[in-house]
Formats: sequence, structure tokens, C-alpha cells
Amino acid sequence: MKPVKIGVLGLGTVGGGTVNVLKRNALEIARRAGREIVITRASAKDLNRTRICDTHGIALTSDPFSIVNDPEIDIVLELIGGLSPAKELILQAIANGKHVVTANKALIALHGNEIFDKASAQGVMIAFEAAVAGGIPIIKAIREGLSGNQIEWLAGIINGTSNFILTEMRDKRRNFQDVLGEAQALGYAEADPTFDVEGIDAGHKLTILASIAFGIPLQFDKVYTEGITEITPEDVVYARALGYRIKHLGIAKKTSAGIELRVHPTLIPKERLLANVNGVKNAVVVNGDAVGSTLYYGAGAGAEPTASAVVADVVDVVRALTGDPENRVPHLAFQANAIMDLPVLSSDQFISAYYLRLTAEDKPGVLAEVTRILADHQISIEAIIQKEPNHGKTTLPIIMLTQKTLEHEMNAAISKIEQLTTISGKVNRIRLETLG
Ligand code: HSE
Repeated sequence: MKPVKIGVLGLGTVGGGTVNVLKRNALEIARRAGREIVITRASAKDLNRTRICDTHGIALTSDPFSIVNDPEIDIVLELIGGLSPAKELILQAIANGKHVVTANKALIALHGNEIFDKASAQGVMIAFEAAVAGGIPIIKAIREGLSGNQIEWLAGIINGTSNFILTEMRDKRRNFQDVLGEAQALGYAEADPTFDVEGIDAGHKLTILASIAFGIPLQFDKVYTEGITEITPEDVVYARALGYRIKHLGIAKKTSAGIELRVHPTLIPKERLLANVNGVKNAVVVNGDAVGSTLYYGAGAGAEPTASAVVADVVDVVRALTGDPENRVPHLAFQANAIMDLPVLSSDQFISAYYLRLTAEDKPGVLAEVTRILADHQISIEAIIQKEPNHGKTTLPIIMLTQKTLEHEMNAAISKIEQLTTISGKVNRIRLETLG
């Protein structure tokens, strides 16, 4: 059989890693796919840059459109990232009847509904395993391995850069900027690293996971996102004293009222496996009604881990090339006509337990005032720590853990607590999940 010809768009961290893996493991990959797979063309913005990959035997160009318009190319790997020109390139490839493999989470989260509609109309496949959790085959696990289940919730560490920063801050007391610089140098961070540290990248990935878990449209605009920039070293220390670790999680949960889609720092009990996922590693727990909780763990970013997912998609596409398009695994796990527009809850309607840190005057009655407000909002306290007064000051930190409550009630209580004359500054609030 003729070899399958691949055109790679982008030779950065992921593109370079993909070229290396496809070349190095060519024989093993061909044994799995049933056909030889050859990269014949690749595009890069700057053709003179030093690369991590060997481009020998690959025709290079700075014009990616010449690849998607090349009738010789069977599969396009979009590894440029960002929205434009990635979207135009993918749409052009689809129009030209080419299958596409992409690692582009932002593009799938924001424009995936349109892209999949167009691909289905043209009978081509769009594969995107590398878009979520780097090398972990989480899309395949949910879309295929768990297809007998009603997925009830999933929770994951899905931004390697944030996890790397939180781990280094906790274990080595390194400062935020310093660790972020290292994550950038190692190729973990996005081109705009605020996407990592403000929770946007995790929001893109959660959008995709929720869609394939629940059979709902991709809707990034309904994801609540909060990053790690407000986490202080004190919070890390107090969380530890209470038996918890702070992790940046993406959580998608089906409740009787609707679906919660949220990304935020979260206290989780220190004995949970997720609490022990460190560095750039990602992990996702998926809970199904039949299987219970399942855990997927591995490298969430980096050249070859991400390439591993890209190449697995290439193999899947090659295996399906000769099959009937009607019998392919649907892009979003559920048949396109069975996607349901279930209600997505606003953050006010989330239900969560909380960690609160307040700075209070060191005088009688202050704690009573705070607990009165919480009680008025039906918020039960699980634990309280009152520390020694801050050095040379008349204020002291109070740390509380609450039981689960409606976020609307918590917001109202926090706003009243912040108005007390005995409380200074903002109440620092972090959600808490037991993930039991
Ligand atoms: N910037 C992303 C991360 C890369 O840190 O997880 C992988 O998607």
C-alpha cells in the first residue's frame, strides 16, 4: 500500500517533537497503522531557526497554506497553535478533503462546534487528543473506554505550568516569576503565559473534556475560570496544617440543577492521588456511574509527551482511512444529532466547601461576629485555626474551613464579613473538594 503523506504545520516544541517521534518510531508505528507514514512537507515561520528535530527528507516552506492546498498530502498536523491562521488552515484542509490532527485546545474549545460540523459534512476526521493533558490519552479513555457510563463528574490537574509553579513554590519556596520563567524555557507555557496562570488554558481543556463527557456543545464562554496568581505562600502552609494541598483543578460536574464547569485553585485532602501529582504532570479523575472513579496520569506538556498523543491520533486516522465514515467514533463522543444543550450553571449556583483566610483584630467578640454572619447564611464551619498576632501588629490571621454551601450564600457572607470594622482587607477564599 502507498505510504500516507503527512504535512506538518509548525515546527516548534510540539511540531519538532512529533517529527522526532514519527521518524524514530517509524517501523513500530507502521506495524500498528498498517501503512507507512511519511512526513513529506512541513512549514515554519522562520526557516533558519535551530530546531529540536531533524528535518532531513522533509520539504520545508514558510507558507503553511501551500501544504493544506497540496493534493499529495493526506493528513495535515496543525501544530501552530493560536486561533489565526490555525482556524483558516484547518478549514482549508477540510475543504480540500484532508484529515486533520491538532493539538490546539483554544481553537477546539472556541470554534470546535463549527469545525466538526464542516469536517463531518466533508467526511474528514479532526483528531485532537494532544489538546488535553499532553501525553495522557484522556480523550480516548472518556470517548471510548468509558462509553458505557453516565459520567457524573471529572476533576483534573490540566495545566502543567500551573502545577509546576505550585509544586516549586511549595517544595522549594521559589518565587512565582522565577518558576514561570523556567516553565517557559522548558516549552511548557503557552505563547502568552497568562493563559496558564489565569486558568484560561485549563478552561479550554475543561470545555473539551466536559463536552465529550456529557454530550454537550463546546462552550468555553460558560466556564468559570480563576488562576493561581492570588495563591499566597501562607495559604499553602495553612492548607498543609489542615491536611490539604492546593491544586489548580478543572472540575465538570453534572448536578440535578445543571452542569458546573469551573477552573480554580482547590484544597484537596493530602491523601488523594491528585494531591500528589507534582511538577508538570497532569492527572484527571473521571467518575462514571458504572466504573466508579478512574485516574489518568502522565506528562501534561513538553515536546515528546505531546507528540505521543499527536502520533496516536495519526495512527487512528490512518487506520480509519479506508473505513466507512458513518462508523467512525464521533468527534465529541456522542453522535452529532444527540448532543444536548443541558443548562450550564453560573458560578453563583455552584456548591462547594471553602477555605477562608481573614485578617482580624485581636479582641474579644470578633470571631463571634464572623461566625454569626456565616450562620445567618446557613454556612456550617468545619474547622477553625486562629494564629498568633501578626509580627508587631494587633491583627491576627483566622483560617476556617466550611462545609458545602451554595456559592451565592458564601459570596453574600464574605461581603458582609469584609464590611466588619474588625476585619481588614479582603477575605481570601479558596474552594475545597474532597473528591470522595
Ligand atoms: N501550557 C500548557 C500546560 C501546555 O502548561 O499545560 C500543554 O497544553
